[in-house]
Amino acid sequence: MALATPCPLCIFLHFLLLLPFTIAQNHIKIPLGSSLTANDGNLVWASPLGEFAFGFQQIEKDGFLLAIWFNKIPERTVVWSANGNTLVKRGSKLELTKNGLLVLKSPTGKQICVVQGAGSGVAYAAMLDTGNFVLASQDSVSIWESFNEPTDTLLPLQAFNQGKRLAARYSGKNFSKGRFQLKLRSNGNLELYTTTFPMDAANYVYWSSNTAGSGFQVMFNQSGSIYLQAKNGTILSMLSSKPSSTEDFYQRAILEYDGVFRHYVHPKNNGPDTKGWSRAWSHCSTSIPSNICLSLKEETGGGACGFNGYCSLEKDQRPNCHCPNGYSFIDPNDVMKGCKQSFESQSCDVNSKEEDKFYFNTMENTDWPLSD
Ligand SMILES: *[C@@H]1O[C@H](CO)[C@@H](O)[C@H](O)[C@H]1NC(C)=O
Ligand SMILES: *[C@@H]1O[C@H](CO)[C@@H](O)[C@H](O)[C@H]1NC(C)=O
Ligand SMILES: *[C@@H]1O[C@H](CO)[C@@H](O)[C@H](O)[C@H]1NC(C)=O
Repeated sequence: MALATPCPLCIFLHFLLLLPFTIAQNHIKIPLGSSLTANDGNLVWASPLGEFAFGFQQIEKDGFLLAIWFNKIPERTVVWSANGNTLVKRGSKLELTKNGLLVLKSPTGKQICVVQGAGSGVAYAAMLDTGNFVLASQDSVSIWESFNEPTDTLLPLQAFNQGKRLAARYSGKNFSKGRFQLKLRSNGNLELYTTTFPMDAANYVYWSSNTAGSGFQVMFNQSGSIYLQAKNGTILSMLSSKPSSTEDFYQRAILEYDGVFRHYVHPKNNGPDTKGWSRAWSHCSTSIPSNICLSLKEETGGGACGFNGYCSLEKDQRPNCHCPNGYSFIDPNDVMKGCKQSFESQSCDVNSKEEDKFYFNTMENTDWPLSD
């Protein structure tokens, strides 16, 4: 596939990696020739029970994200997206073509990108109630599925195999690729690492399962346990062990933009066991890593809060970025970017008693690792 423009939706069919499954669950067939348009109307392809929807979400004034989201909660939380790096304009169109391609087109009709599947026998698409969007053949065998191309989120029943990775988004509302990734390496080791942002390459591993040679698959099972297992099914590492049933709770696990992998639950409206739970996502179980401020000690890179910044872990276990006295955020709207000095640097050329202007400032319980 050769594309002239940067391709936001780079999805290929991995026939060899894919274990085709027959869609047994209830599903609505979206026939070839169907399409969706990015506009203010909310035509979407919803799953049979309406749990999930596939369509365009408006992110900014003229920027739309092709995504899958939880459709029965007001937040419409995104669990998968196709074009986080390049939002599309109003009037852009997603087409499931007659020959089984999924094509995203700009308002002027320019083809932006496709899911390749020509000649592969795609007969229809379906949004399933598990959150998996599939392209399937006439006899309902899946040919492509969003579960095999995760972005930053895992859902119950979604397996995460060797070679797969999650890429954190840049910030809460900016879906472009950020600074952190989680990968199950082909040797079986599960690793969280910083990237050489804005490039994609791995820079510094800040958490590892230490399972090279035995790790096979991360499972998120129906009762909400997330674990790394060996090929024979032995659990090697429990990532989240506070299960809640998928009957009463929506669940998701996400590598968040602050570099932490977290498991969230949200009570379902019709669930019986929801007393005492606020109707919002709540973080359950431990975070990985448990203290991101202490985990990021890369020699080249700015830690969890960027160069010159320092990090504190708040009561809710979230990192908070600060600047030392005399420094201010490079971008107050993006505090992880680091801090810049607010004072003029000392100069040898000027004949003044500058030492009066400098002082030592004591900071209790603060460490500046690797550069004391
Ligand atoms: C998201 O963040 C990236 C990286 O800083 C930036 O280049 C991009 O413009 C941002 N996108 C939006 C929609 O704000
Ligand atoms: C399963 O695999 C693990 C890791 O390879 C190994 O340590 C363990 O002994 C195996 N268990 C059985 C019952 O074969
Ligand atoms: C999910 O995994 C946990 C931990 O191994 C186990 O106790 C639970 O029975 C599993 N649930 C299902 C539905 O398989």
